[in-house]
Amino acid sequence: NIEQKVDSVLALMTLEEKVGQMVQYNGSWDVTGPATGTTNEKKLERLKKGLVGSMLNVVSVKNTREAQRLIIENSRLKIPLIFGYDVIHGYKTMFPVPLGETASWDMILAEKTAAAAARETAASGIHWTFAPMMDVSRDARWGRIMEGAGEDPFLNAEIAVAQIKGFQGSDLASENTIAACAKHFAGYGFAEAGRDYNTVNIGVYELQNTILPPFKAAANAGVATFMNSFNEIDGVPATSSSYLQRELLKEDWNWDGFIVSDWGSISEMISHGVARNKKEATLLAIKGGSDMDMEGGAYESSLISLVEEGEISEDLIHDSVKRILRIKFHLGLFDDPYKYCDESFEKSEVYSDKNQQLALEAAKKSIVLLKNENNILPIQNKVKSIAVIGPLANDKDSPLGNWRAQAIQNSAVSVLEGIKKHAPTSIKINYAEGAKLSTGERNFLSPLTINKNDKSGFEEAINLAENSDLVILVVGEDAFQSGEGRSQTNIGFLGVQNELMKEIQKVNKNMIMVLMNGRPMDLTWSDQNIPAIVETWFLGSQHGNAVGEVLFGKYNPSGKLPVSFPRNVGQEPLYYNQKSTGRPNANSEVTYSHYTDAGRDALFPFGFGLSYTNFEYGKIQLSSDSFSGSEEIKASIEIKNTGKMAGAEVVQLYIRDLFASITRPIKELKGFEKIYLEPGASKKVEFTIDKELLSYFGRDKKWGTDPGKFYLFIGPNSTELQQVEFQYK
Ligand code: IFM
Repeated sequence: NIEQKVDSVLALMTLEEKVGQMVQYNGSWDVTGPATGTTNEKKLERLKKGLVGSMLNVVSVKNTREAQRLIIENSRLKIPLIFGYDVIHGYKTMFPVPLGETASWDMILAEKTAAAAARETAASGIHWTFAPMMDVSRDARWGRIMEGAGEDPFLNAEIAVAQIKGFQGSDLASENTIAACAKHFAGYGFAEAGRDYNTVNIGVYELQNTILPPFKAAANAGVATFMNSFNEIDGVPATSSSYLQRELLKEDWNWDGFIVSDWGSISEMISHGVARNKKEATLLAIKGGSDMDMEGGAYESSLISLVEEGEISEDLIHDSVKRILRIKFHLGLFDDPYKYCDESFEKSEVYSDKNQQLALEAAKKSIVLLKNENNILPIQNKVKSIAVIGPLANDKDSPLGNWRAQAIQNSAVSVLEGIKKHAPTSIKINYAEGAKLSTGERNFLSPLTINKNDKSGFEEAINLAENSDLVILVVGEDAFQSGEGRSQTNIGFLGVQNELMKEIQKVNKNMIMVLMNGRPMDLTWSDQNIPAIVETWFLGSQHGNAVGEVLFGKYNPSGKLPVSFPRNVGQEPLYYNQKSTGRPNANSEVTYSHYTDAGRDALFPFGFGLSYTNFEYGKIQLSSDSFSGSEEIKASIEIKNTGKMAGAEVVQLYIRDLFASITRPIKELKGFEKIYLEPGASKKVEFTIDKELLSYFGRDKKWGTDPGKFYLFIGPNSTELQQVEFQYK
């Protein structure tokens, strides 16, 4: 039994070796050669002594085997390393960025892509991904909004669980699976004004009802690890929050995995101003329940002395080390530290044709059709010439998104390539870039240089547009506009894109916009001036093929937005599940909750997305209009495909609790089902409502359900809803 094995290893360890397990190094040198520089030399020496528990960013069988060998052949106890890596939306085969994949509302797909990413990762010698990110995020300015599932806690929880199942499978020791990591615990997506790493001020009810549900679901699903977050919550850096990490996660939720700090977040408590030095930061972090220090040097330098000086009990160290060893046992690393080191498996598994097929399926399912005036899409055969214009049209790199692990630069199918491949041969396709979006270095750590002046390509693009039947504009964001440290105050089209679009629109109004982006954008002008808008996010390796299939009607789009798209940036943070406020209605012309210069609603709401077919919703049927105790009721509705094309629809259930001990959202997503219907076919969708589904964390600081009246809504998005009511007694 694993617990006995963990105890028996722990019993052999010195304090130095125990603390070593709590240290994670970045692979900052080539582990197959001599270490370079004093820091790396020291790291190498400690590695050989077995004073390191984990490494991140060491990739490929060749490298992980060598780093593992250093410890297994040189150290006293030969405790294997666990290798971690950011496999956020694929390892080498790139799937859509998480916000994009969430738009599929397809949990089977999310599980499948995570499983495929896990196979590629495990085949490369890596045991652990720092994913999924389940930070509920409601501010389009925040660069990392693209890495999660958007604004809704229920949807975040569903997709996180699907991804965890995909990464971890049913057996962590299988050579096809890897450990997952629920991150960032907690509140990171609520950075003030969307500025990355900024202060987070949320109260206990918001924390419990909005931020924590996905994490609780992840813990229940058996996620192996958690990562804490860079931010403070209400004055307390999350890395030192014993409320979050000890009281809730480890005690109330009874979770037995380990918590890794975010990169240097322990030492960063010095900058937060709650610790004077690394030793004080270490004390706060270990008391707060952080088990492993990611590349921060704090635990390594200070934990031993804190124990020796009696500042902390060695029991705290034991708890952390046991948690880390437990996961290593579950991964099967003690049985065979090299079990993930098979070069032939690596060759057959990584970037396989099978995974490219899955990447195409995922990309198609993630596309959201936002506007389609006069059914301009799918493109008709009467169109004889198309001008493909825009800085992102022939871009083979941006579709790979940020956090791209081992993606090969410029390896995606571009939109232009996809259009050329899928257009009927009778249509002539011409291309003009129009303008560049960015110039210079483009990578995770370099600031992006946006082209603000060069319009030298405008003339060619305008001429082409003027002489074509139809224009496809491929615009939006560079991949490196979103991701860590990529917050923006402008969520419109950067550089000279606005001017380019306006000039093109003057000469040809028959336009389709293909949008590539990692965050909700301000589409007000586009919505007023462009007949069709196709949201394609960063769809990964097969981006262009997916877009081509959708534009020419080979695939009927079915994605729905996981985030609200605002009318302008001033509405941010914007989310459908807002509160009523004391003044929701226009009882006076001025003194109610609104903006004087824009609506308070979204331009494109949460859950919204069009199809090439039409779905007709029947009437909601409730099995009963009241229930009590542990009873349940059913809400059902008939959906019919009344159009001419087969298609998929995401049927959404929302609930409003009218009176509660604390203020509650005006509606909350509580269920959804994605159904596929042939033309003329119909299907009954049924949702179960029970006490649990209605529960919330209330004024008594407990989860529970109050008796009273509830509204129940069903519809195709968060605004076009039918409403009925029921009572919980
Ligand atoms: O996993 C990431 C985290 O999301 C942000 N900081 C660095 C970690 C490791 O790369």
